[in-house]
Amino acid sequence: MNRRYRKTIIAGNWKMNKTASDTRAFAEELKPLLSKAKWCDIVLCVPFVNIPAAIKAFKDTRVAIGAQNLHFEDHGAFTGEVSAAMLKDLGVKYVIIGHSERRQYWNETDLTVNKKVHAAIDAGLYPIVCVGESLEQRELGVTMELINLQVKTALAGVPAEKMRHVVIAYEPLWAIGTGKTATSEQANEVNEEIRAIIRRLYGARVARSVTVQYGGSMNAKNAEELLAQPDVDGGLIGGAALKAADFTAIINAANQE
Ligand code: PGA
Repeated sequence: MNRRYRKTIIAGNWKMNKTASDTRAFAEELKPLLSKAKWCDIVLCVPFVNIPAAIKAFKDTRVAIGAQNLHFEDHGAFTGEVSAAMLKDLGVKYVIIGHSERRQYWNETDLTVNKKVHAAIDAGLYPIVCVGESLEQRELGVTMELINLQVKTALAGVPAEKMRHVVIAYEPLWAIGTGKTATSEQANEVNEEIRAIIRRLYGARVARSVTVQYGGSMNAKNAEELLAQPDVDGGLIGGAALKAADFTAIINAANQE
């Protein structure tokens, strides 16, 4: 991380876990533990139905609430979907877009990711755009080409002045939920490339200011080393964000003097 130029953001992704009651209990446990969280932004991306409970429980704290998906249309006949405006109206600040589980199980593509990024930005939400390679792609040596394609497509048509609202999360598929974390060198190498892509698209000043997270089995033990890397500006955390103590340990690792 490099706090001089950009925000460090520690974001939890609860996926399909916890009820609204669990959300309230988690908030009561987490809130007293946040005293050391001076320098990083904290986000919790909860299931849609838990958003009102989360917003209420974390009111007047440093914790912002995020969603895990949205639909790119404003409104209409899309049964079961949720729009950016609906999220914004509830007080949501961030939204995860293009998580690999959405790409894998719901056939999201780089093109739908791009539409969702625009929908989020237009509604005043901050997208956390997920990119990352599979193990096969890493072994074939095409990681950087893939990342280039994913990032460029996701950001197509996004003007430079909106880039301060955009967060990118590098999440190698082989590290998600597997307990197999990327080494800090692997994470930094790809995050550095993501910043280079943004530099080529928008110039050095914008590139320097964009938060690029790492995600994939980040936990209380490995967070400090990952976050010490110059281009790892925070984490997108699944499993370890479900326990207040583990999540706090990661937050504290992002707040070292
Ligand atoms: P994990 O999930 O931390 O459980 O690997 C990360 C993610 O999918 O965002």
